[in-house]
Amino acid sequence: MATHSSSRYEELKAQVNFHNYRYHVLDAPVISDLEYDRLLNELKKLEADHPDWITPDSPTQRAGARPADRFEKIRHPAPILSLANAFGADDARAWFERVKKLDDRVENAKFVVEPKIDGLSVVLHYRDGLFVQGATRGDGEVGEDITSNLRTVRAIPLKIPVGSEQLSAKSKQSSITNYQLPKYLVVRGEAFIPNKEFEALNKKLEEAGEKTYLNPRNTAAGSLRQLDPVLTASRPITLLVYQIVHSEGGKVPTSQWEILEYLKALGFPVTDIARRFNDLESAIAYTETFSTGRKALPYEADGMVIKIDDLTLAADLGFVGKDPRGAVAFKFPAREVTTTLNDIGVAVGRTGVLTPYAMLEPVEIGGVVVERATLHNFDYIAEKDIRAGDRVLIKRAGEVIPYVIGPIVDARTGKEKKYKPPSKCPACGQEVEHFEGEVAWYCVNAACPAQLVRNVEHFVSRGAMDIVGLGIKIVEQLIEAGLVKDVADLFSLKKEQLLELEGFAEKKAENLLKSIEQAKGQSLNRLIAALGIHGVGEVMAGDLARTFGNLSALSKASADELQQMDGLGPNIAESIVDWFEQNANQKLLKKLNAAGVWPEMKKNEKKKEGAFTGLTFVVTGTLPTLSRDGVKEFIESNGGKVTDSISKKTSYLVLGEAPGSKLDKAQSLGVKVIDEAELRKLAGG
Ligand code: IVH
Repeated sequence: MATHSSSRYEELKAQVNFHNYRYHVLDAPVISDLEYDRLLNELKKLEADHPDWITPDSPTQRAGARPADRFEKIRHPAPILSLANAFGADDARAWFERVKKLDDRVENAKFVVEPKIDGLSVVLHYRDGLFVQGATRGDGEVGEDITSNLRTVRAIPLKIPVGSEQLSAKSKQSSITNYQLPKYLVVRGEAFIPNKEFEALNKKLEEAGEKTYLNPRNTAAGSLRQLDPVLTASRPITLLVYQIVHSEGGKVPTSQWEILEYLKALGFPVTDIARRFNDLESAIAYTETFSTGRKALPYEADGMVIKIDDLTLAADLGFVGKDPRGAVAFKFPAREVTTTLNDIGVAVGRTGVLTPYAMLEPVEIGGVVVERATLHNFDYIAEKDIRAGDRVLIKRAGEVIPYVIGPIVDARTGKEKKYKPPSKCPACGQEVEHFEGEVAWYCVNAACPAQLVRNVEHFVSRGAMDIVGLGIKIVEQLIEAGLVKDVADLFSLKKEQLLELEGFAEKKAENLLKSIEQAKGQSLNRLIAALGIHGVGEVMAGDLARTFGNLSALSKASADELQQMDGLGPNIAESIVDWFEQNANQKLLKKLNAAGVWPEMKKNEKKKEGAFTGLTFVVTGTLPTLSRDGVKEFIESNGGKVTDSISKKTSYLVLGEAPGSKLDKAQSLGVKVIDEAELRKLAGG
């Protein structure tokens, strides 16, 4: 039992901050989520017992601050400057020629190239290594105090250096020891939402019937500039820093390259694609590898910044207005174009959400021909008054799906048609429905052909019925051939029918039928999740299975009964009742029952705690029978965790053929090494 002393408190704060850094900055966690949660819970408990101990650098202080009425103003310690633009290589060369004339040293200058991320510029203040204040850029002289919101961004260190004792790389050590941490340090960076996280966020919102966001930049800026930090905390914002704006009482590098190294060594997130070059042509060549889109960046960037490495020289060159002469923004070709919106189509998603999209006169953006762009939802079309026949502005940024920014009203001829959302599903003709509090319109007919492919795909997927060997291609084949009209039809497929499909021979048909047969034994929670009821995911499905025990009981549950359950509100209750009321769905249940797909679960059965509860596993090499995913599922279904990297906290390394360096590491750390057979034995089977 740990002693409840303040030294344990200090240790816990340092540990949690360090693991946040490993996870959010380096993207290389060394402990499992479970272990992390344990540390965090112990910390929270200590703080609950000793509220007077809490300091602003505690990781618990990241969220939960009260909403502000408005933002205070903060005067920046030095002007937060902007950048002059260069459009193409010749423009960049012209910049170089201009500054060369001002100072002889430019001739032999080195250059640092960094991405110019399209996010929100933020200014972070550290006193004695503690994050004390953060601001927006504002007008460059005065910004807004968004400290509480920035605290929720886990990539921002609350205390620097981050766990310097753990930062073992030599270069990092020397970057720290050659300089002296200023008593007051102000750094600048760009806060943003990575493209992948943005798409995932929008997908989640869309499936929940909520409003989706337009683009990563506005979402990040909006989330940081709203008054409730709890909302900010729920957005996947991260940042990269690139500048020391001001420092007092210490010694910091005077070259841009070393600034980046130094900031990295202190524990700040810094881009890993920055490079230093001895001449401008090499810098331009590097920049161009990104501008042509050959190297895709995982975030929105509107260009690269070319900076003179010697910051003393750069400062001596002075400014033009707010633009320092020592750096230039090499802009990528615009990813915005105009084209004609020929018509507005409506797609029906798996959950039945109707999403409008623009059918465009084909147009090239950044090397890709675009014919479709998202219109988000029907409110968006109304708000922007987008009409069929309009000239529209389209944006394609990075890997983000192209979207319509808006119509060019001046280009209207009068022939454009105002848009009216459909009252019937464009695919099956059933009346569309609207759920209270959501922006989306739905088709709730489970037999709707537009939803069928996705419904079946979802039904057979790994988190649901897990029917191996039934990929999207085959699903489409089955539906096209008329063999599958709802998911229950899967269970009455015959070998002769499959053999008539293209690409099916004896073996393949037999294997598929075998895995379909096996799926009949799947548990109730998986079957409920597989039905694709609006608002019911894997966790909720598990709760419903444990509460009702079988599908007949669940189908008879009233909205009131459902709402007795934890975390189940009126909207989901209504959606469940609605689903079971649909004729098509009742027919589906009868068919499943007749096919023997009717699992039961003991009511109130406890969540699965297994032989591996509390244990962490790392797997390396190829195992004799279990695949990568297979072993993960095996361990997790027994209550264990699987992580990628070995640490002292790893319980077991599971070893297969041709292991990598993980074996050495496990041995040096004294982590137990087992093979697949021993793993199975440990699980008790
Ligand atoms: S340097 C003297 N570097 O681009 C420092 N700016 O118009 C001047 N930005 O508002 C800025 N990434 O928010 C610099 N690596 C980077 C940047 C960057 C993004 C933004 C910054 C600024 C705008 C410049």
